[in-house]
Parts: sequence; structure tokens; C-alpha cells
Amino acid sequence: MKERRKFLHFFDSEEYKEVVPESDEQKKVSPPLFQQPYPEDSPLIDLIPPNDFTIGKAPFLDLVNHRQSRRKYTSEPLTLEELSFLLWSTQGVKQVLRSGSGVKRTVPSAGAKSPLETYLVINRVTGLEPGLYRYISFSHKLLFIKRIDNAEETMGKLSFEQMFVGKAPVIFCWTAVPYRTEWRYTILSHKFIAIDLGIVCQNLYLACEAINLGTVAIGYYEQNKLDELFDLNTDEEFVVLLAPVGRYRKQKKLTEFFKYPKKEVTLVSLKKLEGKYKRKNLVEFIVKNDHLVIKIGEFEEILEPYNEIEFIGEMSARAMRFEFTKEGKPEKVVVLNAEDEEFELECAE
Ligand SMILES: Cc1cc2nc3c(=O)[nH]c(=O)nc-3n(C[C@H](O)[C@H](O)[C@H](O)COP(=O)(O)O)c2cc1C
Repeated sequence: MKERRKFLHFFDSEEYKEVVPESDEQKKVSPPLFQQPYPEDSPLIDLIPPNDFTIGKAPFLDLVNHRQSRRKYTSEPLTLEELSFLLWSTQGVKQVLRSGSGVKRTVPSAGAKSPLETYLVINRVTGLEPGLYRYISFSHKLLFIKRIDNAEETMGKLSFEQMFVGKAPVIFCWTAVPYRTEWRYTILSHKFIAIDLGIVCQNLYLACEAINLGTVAIGYYEQNKLDELFDLNTDEEFVVLLAPVGRYRKQKKLTEFFKYPKKEVTLVSLKKLEGKYKRKNLVEFIVKNDHLVIKIGEFEEILEPYNEIEFIGEMSARAMRFEFTKEGKPEKVVVLNAEDEEFELECAE
């Protein structure tokens, strides 16, 4: 673990000279391509140009204040303008540097190397066939790559069973092409690439907020299976983050789910909640240092007294409600998932 932390370090100048190797740029190797190539004769789909956007004029402070992760989407399609707006906001190209050594975009990137590509799994966008696409940022167009069988279920499963991901009208899938940054920054590149990715994702959050769409960063995904689905040459390029996007539905108020107000809930009766339950996996509730802890395999998380939670996978949940028999024994736990569906965990004993 400690070894991996070092990835976040930079160096003092003395150490820098010793450990950072000569770069390909210094060795006069030609710069890499800053956009993945595609067959010359591929038909490209026009997007709405940024000068023609009629949406996205919300005040900045409102966006910052309202931004939150949103995981529950309506089945309504996105419009082409909305998709164009999101692509422009996250990776729009403003200038290709004349030296050929980088690209200026709507987002900053270490050395203007912009080592990311944007793939889209499109389920519902007005006027577009469902399937896998890539944003051709240099000309602000879309490249259709292929159809994906059963895309909704496939993408949910490939997100560690976070099924809400697959249900979004569009899923942004960013890949990294590390050599673009490595060409100049060698071993310094990987921290920079991660920062570049975070910035792009935050722009997606804010751009969505500006046009009343919702998104959430998805760090849990099946790396090899998704790389394979996208036919990536993983020596060069691989998936690094997903983000489903859709028109969001208001989530249920938790007071409706719990059926009692938040202020009535205290830690006093914690011991009563201890127990083993089952759905696909064994789920244990234990009391540790005056906290109620949920345990699924190696995974543990402290629950708030009101049992508001947030974890991923098959148990993707917003909250849990404990129900008891007349004799006061724990009978079942009702889980409210990210899409406001309720499901029950039965007592395992
Ligand atoms: C790098 C990263 C990875 C994340 N991965 C997931 C994920 O796999 N599933 C999920 O439901 N939320 C995921 N999230 C969303 C966080 O849970 C969320 O941002 C956090 O709980 C704060 O909530 P907020 O965004 O509503 O303020 C991720 C966020 C980031 C930045």
C-alpha cells in the first residue's frame, strides 16, 4: 500500500535530476498523435457547434452548490445538443499547438498533452443509433464504432453490478493513452494523467448540472472485460473511468423510507440491530466501538444511526431500514437502492 502511495509524490529538485530519465521529447522522438486514429473513410456524425448552443447558461455558483452524484435516471433520451454540450465541456478542442506537441482544450492538462479519449455507450440519444461511439474532438464529431448487444445489462454488469449505470441514456467511458504524457514527463506522467482525468470528470458534473442532467463518477468497473468490449490495444490505451448521464429523477425522501423522522433515531438500540442476513452474499451487522458496521466479505462500512449509506456493487444502497418481529427480534433488513427500489435481506439464522 505504502509503495503505491508514492505515485502521488513529486520530487525535490536534486532528486528530480537523479531519478527522472531523459524523455523521448528530449531525445527528439517525434510527438505522439493527440487523437487516436480511425479509418480515413469512416463517416463522422456532426455535433452541434459550441457557438450554436442554446443551453448551459446557469450561474456558476448555482452549479457548484447543487452538484451532487445522481444515480437515478428517467428513460427520456438526451438531445444531440445536450450531448454536444457535454462533449465540448469535457474535451472540446480550442487549439492544436503549432509545434504539434499538444492540444488546448476546454479543460487543462499537464503540458497540454490531453492523454484521454472519450468513448460513449449510447442507449438513447435522439437521432443516433444505439451503440459504442468515440468523440473525435479535433473536428467536434462522433465516430460510430459498433453496436453493443444488450448494452444496458452489459454495462451494469461491467460496473461491478451497479445496474443503474447501464440504464442511463449515455455512459461516458474515458480511456487513457499514457504515452502522450510520458513522451515529455516520463515517470511523472501517471499522477498527471490521474489529475487530468479528475478535471474532465468534474467538468462533466458541472456541465450536467448546468443543463439539468445528472451524472456520477464510476471508479468500479471490470477493467479487462471493458477494454475487450471496446477492442482496445491495452499496451497503448485502456479504460480509466465511467460516468453515466441522464435526466435525473428526484430521489425519495428518506423520511418516507424510514417511516420515522431523523431526529428520533439514536445509537442507543444498536445492539438490537446486530445480526446476519443474506441476499446473494452474507451481510453482517456488527457493533464496533459504538458504531453499527455493515460487513460484506472483506468490505466494512460504518452506518450512520439513520442508516444512510453509500456503497457499490450488488448492494448499491442509499439507506437501510431494520424491521423486527413482535417479540423485538430482528426479522429483516429493507434496503433502498440508488434507484429507490426496495429489496429485503432475510435473516440468515
Ligand atoms: C474517482 C471516483 C470514483 C467513484 N466511484 C463510484 C462508484 O463506483 N459508484 C458510485 O456509486 N459512486 C462513485 N463515486 C461517487 C462518490 O461516491 C461521490 O462523489 C461521493 O459519495 C460524494 O457524493 P457527491 O458526489 O454526491 O457529493 C465515485 C467518485 C469518484 C470521484
